[in-house]
Amino acid sequence: MSLVIALDGPSGSGKSTVGRHLARVHGLGYLDTGAMFRAAAWYCHHRGIDLDDAAAVVDAVATLPLELDLDPDATGVVVDGVDVTAAIRTTEVTTHVSRVATNLGVRAELKASQRAIIAREGTPQGWSEGRGIVAEGRDITTVIAPDADVRILLVARAEARLARRALELHGSADDGALEATRDQIERRDADDSTVSQFLAAADGVVTLDSSHLSLAETLAAAERIVAEQRGS
Ligand code: DC
Repeated sequence: MSLVIALDGPSGSGKSTVGRHLARVHGLGYLDTGAMFRAAAWYCHHRGIDLDDAAAVVDAVATLPLELDLDPDATGVVVDGVDVTAAIRTTEVTTHVSRVATNLGVRAELKASQRAIIAREGTPQGWSEGRGIVAEGRDITTVIAPDADVRILLVARAEARLARRALELHGSADDGALEATRDQIERRDADDSTVSQFLAAADGVVTLDSSHLSLAETLAAAERIVAEQRGS
């Protein structure tokens, strides 16, 4: 029987690390829905579309030529034949992606593709040969896959998330690195939370707070939640 794990949380909560880990442990596909919004933002920029022109952005995203690799160890992203795996992680895309992600028409378009990918991974012809998928984002537990077998909201205190992201981006958590990262965490979460509720768990969603946990403890806690919820 296939397994669908839905994982939500704010920036820097460790979703990608936890999501990839769970996908490896259970032999599942891995869908990073944030990468889809990032790819959409990159594509609009590439085509010279003004992000404030909501209708033009929706039109572009409706025909987004996107290829996503669902291998948790090789999450390649190709848009219009261009490998954008690194380009979608630049500060430029990170700064502007919320403008695309808060466009409700864009969300409707990507929701359909996200649901189609999740459904496909539960059938034998998918990347995971039908074993299932871990899908992570902001609205997976609530809107995209509310019927998932396991639903987890991964949270961490703002300072912990800021320090982790600063280390990841700048290799340091000194004052300069923290300030440079603050916009990417605080402003973006504030903008994104106007369209998705990912700061508190919905009914039936288990909250995992990693503020005071090491990486190994966080992964172990996530595995326990999967075992418990799967059996329930
Ligand atoms: O997780 P991330 O930083 O790669 O996400 C990129 C952007 O997309 C971020 O601004 C939040 C948004 N997002 C969203 O609104 N809904 C999702 N399911 C996933 C991401």
